[in-house]
Amino acid sequence: RDQHSSLLDEDAFVLIAHRGASAIAPEHTLASYGMAMNRDADFIEIDLQMTKDGVLVAFHDDRVDRTTDGSGKVAEMDLADLKGLDAGSWFNAENPDRAQDEYVGIGVPTLEEIFTAFGDTTNYYIETKQPDKNDGMEENLLELLDQYGLLEESHPKGKVIIQSFSADSLKTIHELDDDIPLIQLIGNMEQEIPSPETFELYREYAVGIGVSSRIADEAYVAAAREAGLLVHLFVVDELAEGEKLKSWGANGIFTNDIEAVSSLK
Ligand code: G3P
Ligand code: CA
Repeated sequence: RDQHSSLLDEDAFVLIAHRGASAIAPEHTLASYGMAMNRDADFIEIDLQMTKDGVLVAFHDDRVDRTTDGSGKVAEMDLADLKGLDAGSWFNAENPDRAQDEYVGIGVPTLEEIFTAFGDTTNYYIETKQPDKNDGMEENLLELLDQYGLLEESHPKGKVIIQSFSADSLKTIHELDDDIPLIQLIGNMEQEIPSPETFELYREYAVGIGVSSRIADEAYVAAAREAGLLVHLFVVDELAEGEKLKSWGANGIFTNDIEAVSSLK
């Protein structure tokens, strides 16, 4: 199907490459994103953080310890410090069966480097992480999206989706540009189906919700869909689970293993 015409359709089912093709490459590296694109992911997912000197970078954890050879918090490091780290060797050590020489010494990409590398050849599903501690990250993000032409009307709706656990961050973005589709992420502490009133509040700024597949059951998905929200579920690496969620009416999944679930498209 033409993936670019239907990303936000009510009957869409999209595959979001969670941290890139992170089952087979070190997460949030250009290698990981490129491999996801080669495997026909609808979106590459990017967790966004800001360095001490105000540069947006793709990185999941607060600290660099798990996925690099360094130690400390991203927010307390300048870009130059972050750029000195090896963000690939940990993957080879943990996944000897999937290790690749090319991952050794691979760097943490800035958002600008990602846009330079891939331009408009993919769709981006970007998460503002800890926006309360990263003052100005929304403005900074929108400026870069604009600079790289990713907000142009010639692109299909959904070329860029922005997601966050922070309603404040999403509302800030919505006030700056109410054309960008937003997804309200729901944390694992919130196990109950949100009330119709809560769904209605989300709808004021968001087109849908992102919630863990461990929390959302069939009734949950149905309630969100009836409230007029798209539902994207994380993180699904098994084809059978993906098939079940699709049959419930979900609109897509975040997956580390794009190859395992590619037949859902
Ligand atoms: O963005 C969806 C999902 O990735 C949220 O959890 O911690 O992997 O960013 P996390
Ligand atoms: Ca994420």
